[in-house]
Amino acid sequence: MSNNDRVMLKAMLTNPSKEWKIQELLDSTGWDDQVYVAGSGQSLSESGLVVVTENHRRMVSLDFEGKKALDMGLLEDRIWKWYLATNEEERTMESLFQAGFQRNEAGPGIGLLKAMGVNLVSGKLIADDEELVTSTISDRSDFISKITGENIEATSLDQDLIGHFSGRKGLISIEDIVSRTWSLTVKGASVDEGLLSHVEMIGEVTPELLQGDSWKGAKFKPFDVNAPTLTPTGGRPHPMQALIERIRKVFLEMGFSEIEGNFVQSAGWNMDALYIPQSHPARTMQDTFYLSKPEKVEVREEYLDLWAKVHEHGHDTGSRGWGGKFDKQEAQKGLLRTHTTVNTVRHIAKNPNKPSRVFGIGRVFRQETIDRTHLPEFHQIEGIIHEENANLPMLITTLKTFYSKMGYDDVRVRPAYFPYTEPSVEVDILWRGEWLELGGAGIFRPEVTEPLGTEWPVCAWGMGLERLAMLILELEDIRQLYQPDLEKLGKMPIL
Ligand code: PHE
Repeated sequence: MSNNDRVMLKAMLTNPSKEWKIQELLDSTGWDDQVYVAGSGQSLSESGLVVVTENHRRMVSLDFEGKKALDMGLLEDRIWKWYLATNEEERTMESLFQAGFQRNEAGPGIGLLKAMGVNLVSGKLIADDEELVTSTISDRSDFISKITGENIEATSLDQDLIGHFSGRKGLISIEDIVSRTWSLTVKGASVDEGLLSHVEMIGEVTPELLQGDSWKGAKFKPFDVNAPTLTPTGGRPHPMQALIERIRKVFLEMGFSEIEGNFVQSAGWNMDALYIPQSHPARTMQDTFYLSKPEKVEVREEYLDLWAKVHEHGHDTGSRGWGGKFDKQEAQKGLLRTHTTVNTVRHIAKNPNKPSRVFGIGRVFRQETIDRTHLPEFHQIEGIIHEENANLPMLITTLKTFYSKMGYDDVRVRPAYFPYTEPSVEVDILWRGEWLELGGAGIFRPEVTEPLGTEWPVCAWGMGLERLAMLILELEDIRQLYQPDLEKLGKMPIL
């Protein structure tokens, strides 16, 4: 209960059976604004302590023509008086004008009399029933003088005459008024007055407040989080950008550093370094964008040699390799990176002896036909833990922590296969009762790590950003993320 509610309840308890009018409540509470009565009345009625009764009243008052009629008599009354005072032969329009009636009065005035059975017969006015006209006009005049400029409740007036005068311009005006009264319910009347003293409420938590002790016994004003407010319509970051920022924050919080890399890479770093066989179907032009400029991206001979040995016979990794002949030209073909794993691998090659936990969020390119769930350009969230005791549980915990910080607590891993990891897992999250695959992970094989110059294990993962965005933003179609539809974008949740 707010302090205002208490004040109002206390005021009403001074006379628990009373039906309170607005002015009485204002007097009794000492408030100067009806808004407080309405507000507290409403909330007390929602708590079942007060009943609000609405009274609808229709009020009638004289309009400008009506006020004139009050002074001078109704138009029909004035003409009728002239009629009665004039002898039969002279009841012509001509003599009506001579009597001082203006054209704009005479016309409507005769119209009114005609409706009461007064007719123009060969230029002269003649009434069918003079008594009837006299009594009708006298009723009308009584009606007007009964109102006399004040507000009169419609129920106390003749309904037919209200109907008659509301059809005439400017005579009366009608106003519908709703007034409320407030009375205590049984529950309201039995509230203990002792509980209604003013309580200091804290509406805003400030640093100053927290520095002292005053907040300790205090009550905090509740916020109504369901209260309607304006929807902000200003500029905002694109939802994808906002999501990237959030992911970045989560990994930074988890102690990871961020790395970047170029879109243009050699096939060698993008694939051979990852022990992807040169004959792998994903390496064909159907899947990968090879470049004509630059057609060749040079790779240091030292790496080409190492990859050649590993791919051909395993070198001293304990592996037997893929066999066949390694093609160093193939390894130097220019392409658009097909995954961001190229960044983490190059990071290890540069820092083989430095333990590191790094992540990157970057764009990758694959020859995909665009549909509801595929784009030829999309983003991956990539990362590694490269240190002496890196292991699979560490990897799984890291991914679970990441997803739980993103709001998804149910994460599972399933065995999978990638040419460059052993063991390999696929990461799924539970979404609306369904397991959705979001990425791959594993421990880099020695065929990968040895040429890079490290003997430590490397936990690695790569996840699709757009898939995650679709879940978070509740989209059915991946293309919605990149259509410049400002209205739709503006309505996507703020992350
Ligand atoms: N690069 C893989 C992909 O593009 C994901 C992955 C990264 C898997 C690292 C294992 C380890 O789907």
